[in-house]
Amino acid sequence: MEKNRGSWSSNFGFIMAAAGSAVGLGNLWKFPYLAGQNGGGAFVLIYLGLVVVMGFTLMLGELAIGRATNLDAYGAYNKLKKGWGFIGGIGILTGFLILSYYSVVGGWVLKYIVASLTGAIGADKGAFFTNFITSSTEPIIYHLIFMGLTVLIVIKGVSGGIEKASKIMMPALIALLLLVVIRSITLPGAGAGLAYYLNPDFSKITFKVFVAAMGQVFFSLSLGMGCMVTYGSYVKKDEDLAKDALIIPGLDTLVALLAGFAILPAVFALGFEPGAGPGLMFITLPAVFESMPLGFIVSIAFFILVFFAAITSSISLLEVTVAFGIDQLKMTRQKAVLLFSALMFVIGTGASLSMGPWANVLLPWIDGKSYAIFDFLDVVTSYYLLPIGGLLMAIFIGFVWGLPKAVKEIKIGSTFPTEKLWSVLIKYIAPIGVFLILLSSTGLLDKLLGA
Ligand code: TRP
Repeated sequence: MEKNRGSWSSNFGFIMAAAGSAVGLGNLWKFPYLAGQNGGGAFVLIYLGLVVVMGFTLMLGELAIGRATNLDAYGAYNKLKKGWGFIGGIGILTGFLILSYYSVVGGWVLKYIVASLTGAIGADKGAFFTNFITSSTEPIIYHLIFMGLTVLIVIKGVSGGIEKASKIMMPALIALLLLVVIRSITLPGAGAGLAYYLNPDFSKITFKVFVAAMGQVFFSLSLGMGCMVTYGSYVKKDEDLAKDALIIPGLDTLVALLAGFAILPAVFALGFEPGAGPGLMFITLPAVFESMPLGFIVSIAFFILVFFAAITSSISLLEVTVAFGIDQLKMTRQKAVLLFSALMFVIGTGASLSMGPWANVLLPWIDGKSYAIFDFLDVVTSYYLLPIGGLLMAIFIGFVWGLPKAVKEIKIGSTFPTEKLWSVLIKYIAPIGVFLILLSSTGLLDKLLGA
C-alpha cells in the first residue's frame, strides 16, 4: 500500500516541492495587489507578524499529521481519531474550489508568455489586460491548457513529476525576480513606492487589513486545507520537520516580499494605481520590462517562471484531491486526476466568464455581500474555508490528537528546540487568533465591539 503511494526521493526534493507548492500566484500576483489595496507597509507588517505567529506553527502541525499517518488529508485525520476525517474533507473541498479559479489565473500567465513573444501587449497595458480577461473564449482556452499541463504532471506521481519540476523552478525564479527588483527600485520615482511598501502607516491598520493578511498567510503558505498534510505524508521519518517548517515559510515570504519590491515601486514610478486589484502584476510588469535593456527577453523569461511557480502550486492543489481519490475511493491515480480536473475545469470556466459576460451573476455570502463567481471562490476559500481548516487543525492537535503525540512525531527526526513555544502557539494562540479574525471577516467582531 505505502509503496504504491510513492515518496519524495530526497529531503531537498521534499523542501523544494513544499516550497514549490507555497510559492505561486499567491506570492507573485496576489501579495503585491493585496498590499496595494490594504495600505502598503501596514499590510506587510501585519502579514509578517501573522507568518511568524501562525504560519510556522500551522505548517509544522500539518506536516506532522501527514507524516504520522502517510495518508491523504481525509484519511490522516480519520486515522488519528475516528470521526475527525471531516477536517480533511473540508480541506479537499477547499482545494477543489481554489484550483478552479487558480487555473484561470494560470491561464492568464500563459497568455502573457505568448503575448510577450509576439509583442501583442502594446502601449496601453491596462486595456490589454481588461480586454483579455473579459473576453469569453480565449481565457477559457488558456485555462484549459493550464489545467491540462497540471494534469500531465500530477499523473506522473510524486517524485517523478512534482519533485523534479520544483527543484529547477525555485532557484531560477528567485534569480530572475532579483533582476526585476533591481530594475524596479531604480526607476525614477520609485522612492514613493518604496516608502509606501516599507513604512507602515499605522492609521491604516484596521480589521479589514488583518482579515486580508490572514487569508493571504493561509493562501500563500498552502495552509488550512491539508495540502501540507498530503505533502508531509510522503516524507520519510528522518526528516527534520521543525526545521522544514521554518525553511518553507521563510522561502515563501522571501519571494512574496521580492514580488512586492518588483511591483510596488514600479507602480508609483510609472503612475499606476496601487489599489488596482488583480490586474496589478499583469499591468505593471510589462511596463517595467519595456524600460529594461533586453526587456523583451526578460518579459518572456519572467512569465515563464511565474508559470512554473503557478504550476508547482496547482499540482499541489490537485494532488490533495487525487490522494483522497486514491487512498479513500480506491481510484487509480489516472482516473482520479482526470475526473477531478475535469470538474475543476468546469467550475473555473464559470469563474473566467464571471470576469466578463457573466459579471452580473452574483452569489450571496454570509457576510451579507454578493460576489461574481471568481471573487466568490476567492473570498469563500481564502477568508473562510482556509482559516476554518487551520483553526480545526490547531484544535485537533491541541485537544483531540493531543500535543504529546504530535510532539513525539516531530521528535522522531528533530531535536525540536522550539517545542515549548510551538506547543503554546498551536494549542492556544493560533486557534484564538484565527477565531478572532474569522469573526471579524463575518463582520460579527465589528458589531460586538460596536465599531
Ligand atoms: N500557496 C500557493 C500560492 O501561493 C497556492 C496554493 C497551493 C494553496 N496549494 C495550496 C493555497 C493549498 C491554499 C492551500 O500560489
